[in-house]
Amino acid sequence: RVLILDFGSQVTQLIARRVREAGVYCEIHPYSMSEAAIQAYGPKAIILSGSPASVTEEASPRAPGIVFTAGVPVLGICYGQQTMCEQLGGKVEPGETREFGRAFVDVKEPCALFEGVWQVGAREQVWMSHGDRVAKLPEGFRIVATSEGAPYAIIADDSRRFYAVQFHPEVVHTPHGDALIRNFLFSVSSLSGSWTMAAFKAQAIEKIRAQVGTGKVICGLSGGVDSSVAAVLIHEAIGDQLTCIFVDTGLMRAGEADEVVTLFRDHYNIPLVHVDAADLFLGKLAGVSDPEVKRKTIGATFIEIFDAEAKKIGGAGFLAQGTLYPDVIESVSFTGGPSVTIKSHHNVGGLPERMNLKLVEPLRELFKDEVRRLGVELGLPPAFIGRHPFPGPGLAIRIPGEITPEKLDILRKADTVYLEEIRNAGLYDAIWQAFAVLLPVRTVGVMGDGRSYDYACALRAVTSVDGMTADYYPFSHEFLGRVATRIINEVRGINRVTYDITSKPPGTIEWE
Ligand code: XMP
Repeated sequence: RVLILDFGSQVTQLIARRVREAGVYCEIHPYSMSEAAIQAYGPKAIILSGSPASVTEEASPRAPGIVFTAGVPVLGICYGQQTMCEQLGGKVEPGETREFGRAFVDVKEPCALFEGVWQVGAREQVWMSHGDRVAKLPEGFRIVATSEGAPYAIIADDSRRFYAVQFHPEVVHTPHGDALIRNFLFSVSSLSGSWTMAAFKAQAIEKIRAQVGTGKVICGLSGGVDSSVAAVLIHEAIGDQLTCIFVDTGLMRAGEADEVVTLFRDHYNIPLVHVDAADLFLGKLAGVSDPEVKRKTIGATFIEIFDAEAKKIGGAGFLAQGTLYPDVIESVSFTGGPSVTIKSHHNVGGLPERMNLKLVEPLRELFKDEVRRLGVELGLPPAFIGRHPFPGPGLAIRIPGEITPEKLDILRKADTVYLEEIRNAGLYDAIWQAFAVLLPVRTVGVMGDGRSYDYACALRAVTSVDGMTADYYPFSHEFLGRVATRIINEVRGINRVTYDITSKPPGTIEWE
């Protein structure tokens, strides 16, 4: 098992993901983990993450001393490298050239970290994001690769098995970065890659049983893959101690509410309460156009209904949620680090405090594609698992401005046509997420011989591996033309269609 100490980097979970992909079990803990807890965990290798902090500042975080005295291999990444150097007697200073994004390292000497991947003398692409840099090495270290902004791009102390890199091998923008991490795990740390999603499932089930005991769990089912996988996993762990509550917000796509009820109640036999709350949600959203107010209103209304239903069921001590890692990182600052709030995701926070329930979040460390693999492991239908993600606040955040039943109706129709065309073209699985957005803009058109003055609709389709970054999908013009024609012909209320070509960042996937 590997221990990842988190100093608050936005990409710490990617380290965990790479380690899991290599088939090695790992856990992420805050850098402030106590020495006793580290000893009890008994890591065979330790990885120190990056951080938005600066080692040169006085109150910046440090790794517990035991990390360097336990006799296990340590890999420091970015800030992890810098604090490792500082703590072992080296020196870190603000760099003259800050490096953000693509950079190149020159490989100077052989090193176990990139054996079989990079050759001495080669210039290799990496992804950097740092201002500070190491200026003096601690004793025992040698430089194995350099870059323009980081003369100590890779350093090694082979006898202690301490390795440190200024760049981020965990991100996909460092080609072969995963191979470097695998070298650290297999060659340097002699770990074996035998851990699998089936093992994750078994461990998750054990954890759920240990946490819940004989308690009752309620789970909010949203119809999406995440909460569904969480529900089926928990049901497998504790059977009918679980009751699912499906709050139908009236903000779902056409036909989706029925699908959820059929799958869970009839197919899985999971106890399910179905609440039709469309009128209540629409009432609360009347006149609301600010995206954050919308999200908060939906969140609060959801909580209210959920609370009432849970009371009716009675005796629940736990609340299950299908929270994924990207929801966590974008909603709260992880381990107190200053990662900023981009959007308040409605499935994180709020509920448990109010209801005095403990959270069960078995997917909290996973990325979407990992959840899908877990879903396969749990026997969920492939078509269901392959569904595009759908946000908790639903169509409300796909209608900028005020939401009305009329607009919801228009959007549903346009969305249905769009997805139908995507499926017909065999493109559904190549796309991470595709949806229509109803713009609060009306434009003039000419239909038949008359003038029209109707809404504009934007189509969005993106590719992504984890929802953290995304690129727009390059549809053919012919495809886009066909969809636009169909929407304008078939959906009353829309007379103009545009295609959104913004990537994330700088855009987000949803419009609000
Ligand atoms: P953004 O728009 O932040 O979306 O780039 C990233 C992914 O998260 C989904 N999303 C949400 N999912 N509750 C959810 O369960 C939410 O409040 C929420 N907001 C966005 C979005 O659809 C995309 O897959």
